[in-house]
Parts: sequence; structure tokens; C-alpha cells
Amino acid sequence: MTRNLKTLWPIDDPNYFYLQAIEEYGAGCHVKVNGRGEMLMMGSYSYLGLNGHPRINQSAQAAIDRYGTGTHGVRLLSGTLEVHRQLEARIAAFKQVEAALTFSSGYFANFSTIACLVGRHDTVICDKLDHASIVDGCRLSQARFVRFHHNDMEHLERCITSPEATGRKLVVVDAVFSMDGDIINLPEVSRLCRKHGAWLMVDEAHSIGVLGKTGHGIEEHFGLAPDCIDIKMGTLSKTIPSVGGYIAGTRELCRYVSHESRAFIYSAALPPPAAAAALAAFDVIEDEPERVARLHDNVAYFAARLTSAGLSFLDSTTAIFPIIFGEDYRAWDMGTYCQMHNVYIQAIPYPIVPKGTARLRAAVTAAHSHADLDVCMAVIQDAIKHVVARA
Ligand SMILES: Cc1ncc(COP(=O)(O)O)c(C=O)c1O
Repeated sequence: MTRNLKTLWPIDDPNYFYLQAIEEYGAGCHVKVNGRGEMLMMGSYSYLGLNGHPRINQSAQAAIDRYGTGTHGVRLLSGTLEVHRQLEARIAAFKQVEAALTFSSGYFANFSTIACLVGRHDTVICDKLDHASIVDGCRLSQARFVRFHHNDMEHLERCITSPEATGRKLVVVDAVFSMDGDIINLPEVSRLCRKHGAWLMVDEAHSIGVLGKTGHGIEEHFGLAPDCIDIKMGTLSKTIPSVGGYIAGTRELCRYVSHESRAFIYSAALPPPAAAAALAAFDVIEDEPERVARLHDNVAYFAARLTSAGLSFLDSTTAIFPIIFGEDYRAWDMGTYCQMHNVYIQAIPYPIVPKGTARLRAAVTAAHSHADLDVCMAVIQDAIKHVVARA
């Protein structure tokens, strides 16, 4: 087993750039890494630059003073604190629904909610590029599991109306696809679900704080009513600088899931500082709308720089930029070059993405300045000269 892992992942290689320890991570976009000095962070999902925000830190510290650092119990028994209730009410207000329910991770929120909404005689339908936590939840549910071609609405309709789609029908999609950065066609997915009586669940891991003029997510982006989605899922670990996940929707939904989801019932509640940090972060997003505006400006700026350099970033219109280099070794060499030149950007190889589409994946945040993005571009272009052009 050990030998196999080492063959797959050359962890003793000094150029191995995964699992690096970051020594210091402040509010900006520069980090100290592994004794190698300061690097420009282009691989973080801190889309609004909220990590280390004084108000959020203070909220976490106050929660430690009041509750300590752990919950020592699952939510249904001794683990529910006032701060969990406040956080869930805050998420529900942010997403304009009746209620919300938090989990110890976004992974669990997807995995476990799907598995308790559909079962053996039902059908669950996903986009081909949905996140692994959705796929794993579908498998766990034992429902008939169908995947439609990425963002292909005709294929989705065929899957929903197929005679083989029996029982309850649940459609699950990412709002923003985490490897490609493009956005699901929500108006059409929602219309098809309503027309054919399917439930719709949307994962907003990369959409909260990013999509919509005020960062409220995908409904705001498309100008749709809040009830166009039945189950709104999100994480507290990306724009929100904490850990955990949630689902939001009707009171009935949250009550049902809180008594059916094994990840909710059998896993300890969110630690108090994590819950309090998340609670304050939703307030900060609404109180500091200039952060969302800065993010959108940076996304447009970086997209224009990549386009003028002739680099493809697929159909991304969000803060995730997949810069395609094809073979794994090429993306790997590009990533190594960038890391050696103090730009923290990761190569994404197969099997995380389809064979032949290995990429560098840059994430732009509100904490970057145009000058930071220029530095990143310059290093990528140098890397192309040294790595790709010479291959
Ligand atoms: C689209 C998507 N959904 C769910 C998750 C899981 O969230 P968490 O890291 O909070 O468990 C991720 C995390 O990478 C994600 O990208």
C-alpha cells in the first residue's frame, strides 16, 4: 500500500507541491509557506478576503470565552448551542428561506442530505461535473443514479422524463463548477424541475459571496425568486472563513433532515468559534458590499489579461480560472515553475479533471490588487516560455 501510494504521488520529491504547510495566513493574499518565504496566494477560496477580518476574529474569540472550543456532543443531544441557532437563522435570512441546518462539513451536508432525501426506489439526477460529495451522496442513497451531460438542458429533460426515472426525482447541481468555473443554467434547470415535478438541490460552495451584485448567490445572479431552489446547500469553508456546511429551505425540510441525516445525527456539532466566525461573516458580506464589487472587478481584470495573452480558461465567468495545459506532466511542470517563483497556484491533473485537460487553477479574490494579478500573469507567461515552449 505504502509503495503504491509513493509511486502515484512522489512525496519525497522536493518539487512535490501538495500538502504544503502554510506558516502564516493573514487577511491579505500573501502567505508564508514551508520556510520558503512569502508567496502570492492564487489557490485560496477566500473569495472576499475575509480570513482574519477583525470582526470575524473577534466573534470567534468571544465564542471561545463564552462556550470554550468544543461542543462535546452531537446536535440532537448535548451539542446544540445558542450560536448554532443564531447561525442557522442568519443563513436562512441570507438565503431568503424559512430555515437552515448546519453540518460539520460541506461534504457531509451534500453526502448526507441526498442520502436521506432519496432511496432505493427513487431517481437522483446530477450534472456530469458535480462535486465528489454530491456523487458520493447519490451512491450512498441507493437511488437510481443518472448523470446528464454538463449543462446540457435537453439531456437533463430527457433524464427527468425517462420512463426509467421512477419514484421521487431529485436533481442536484453545482451553482459554480469548481474545476471549470462556469455557472449552471439555473433558470432552465429550475423550470424543468417545476414542469416535471422534481426537487432541485443546488450546491453554492463557490457561489456565496461570488455570484450576484451583493454576493447573495445564484438566484441573485439570474434575478430569480428565492423559491426557485428547494434545497440550497453551501459551505462555511470558502468565502466564509470557517468550517462546516449547511442546507437551507423550508422548516419542514430542515426538521426532516435533522432527524434523518446520519451525518447530522451521529457527528459532533460545529465548534463554537467556527459557528461564531461564520455568523459574523454573513454580516460582513452584507455590511461591506465593496468587497463583492472588488472581486467582480478583479475577475474581469484577470479574464482580460488571460484573453490578451491568448490563454484559454474554458467557459469560466467566475473567480475560478482553469488555465488548460493538456497532459498532466505539463500542468505539473507549470505549477512547479510558478511555485518556484513564489506564486502559489496548483496544478490539477487527472483523475480530478478529465484526461488531457490538466490545468493550472487560479482563484481570484477581493484581496488581490491589479498589481498582484499582473505578477501572477507575468510568472505564468514566463513559465510558458520555460516549460511549454521548450517541451
Ligand atoms: C462544490 C463543492 N461542494 C462541496 C464541497 C465540500 O465542502 P467542504 O470543504 O466544506 O467539506 C466543496 C469543497 O471543495 C466543493 O468545492
